[in-house]
Amino acid sequence: MAVIGRGDVSVVHLAAIEKLGASLVAVVDSKIDHRVMLDELRPDIVHICTPHDRHVPIAIDALERGSHVLLEKPVAHTIEEAERLVAAAKDFPDLQVGVCLQNRYNTSSKIVKSRAAARGGSATVIWHRPAAYYEAKPWRGQRLRSGGGVLINQAIHTIDLMQWFLGDVADVSGHIMGYPGLDVEGTANLMLDHAGGARSVIFATVANVVDSPVTIEIVTDDATFSIRGDLTISYADGRTEVIAEPLPESGGRAYWGASHELLIADFYRAISHGEPFWITPSEALKSQYVIDELYRRNS
Ligand SMILES: NC(=O)c1ccc[n+]([C@@H]2O[C@H](COP(=O)([O-])OP(=O)(O)OC[C@H]3O[C@@H](n4cnc5c(N)ncnc54)[C@H](O)[C@@H]3O)[C@@H](O)[C@H]2O)c1
Repeated sequence: MAVIGRGDVSVVHLAAIEKLGASLVAVVDSKIDHRVMLDELRPDIVHICTPHDRHVPIAIDALERGSHVLLEKPVAHTIEEAERLVAAAKDFPDLQVGVCLQNRYNTSSKIVKSRAAARGGSATVIWHRPAAYYEAKPWRGQRLRSGGGVLINQAIHTIDLMQWFLGDVADVSGHIMGYPGLDVEGTANLMLDHAGGARSVIFATVANVVDSPVTIEIVTDDATFSIRGDLTISYADGRTEVIAEPLPESGGRAYWGASHELLIADFYRAISHGEPFWITPSEALKSQYVIDELYRRNS
């Protein structure tokens, strides 16, 4: 394994690699040319943990040198760049590209996905990213490098879950608001119409004074599924059931979710068994198309 990008999220990848007993051959940040590392060490799998505008160029370099790629979200800072990776990956049918949308591996997510024939839902991502968060890593506040703010960087996980639970998004509307001093959005509201007829509404901000837990409520005919850390299922007949969400075992921050390690283990398992990993760039792009459409409508 090799990790490219030695910033905040790399900690959770490195902890998972160690816990899974995989062999780490290199950790590369921007002072070292990743192509030299790839040429010399030929890692089986490359974890890409760089700013959004560096995802696709590095992913293609890795594929061209024979490595599987595990990419942090989003696929890229623009749709065009993401589609460039989807096209390029077709030339490497024996190599896999996975995307870290780890919240699909949460216990609550798996239960909701398996049980809910849903009428609709709602979600909030109400987080705190102070000016210092953007000053420390300026790319996060620069649209040309990040592609956007709270939607593409933070709420993408929740938008991905909503479309996974409720079906492909046929239409999106909503509004975005800025963040002082940045050219990316800090707050957004969205209304999604899903292809099967479900409707969902989402509110996301990084302007709150604390990191509140992400909340998701999915409504079916006979139960309401409420995720706020743990999952509470309230049945129409009055019963309730609470299912605990395990805390992260391998580093990282609670609000990133518990499941990076589960996703990484599953990616490794898929590769070692020669099975296709399911969260491909095309799959991950479903939520990014929704975000991109909202950006277009607000530009
Ligand atoms: N899945 C999640 O829950 C989650 C959580 C946090 C961040 N992320 C994602 O992880 C990625 C990194 O975010 P972060 O917060 O760790 O950013 P960061 O700025 O803390 O780290 C990025 C690192 O990449 C390095 N870098 C930049 N260009 C490079 C290059 N060409 N070659 C090698 N290294 C290079 C930078 O020097 C920096 O150390 C982003 O895509 C972000 O959206 C995902």
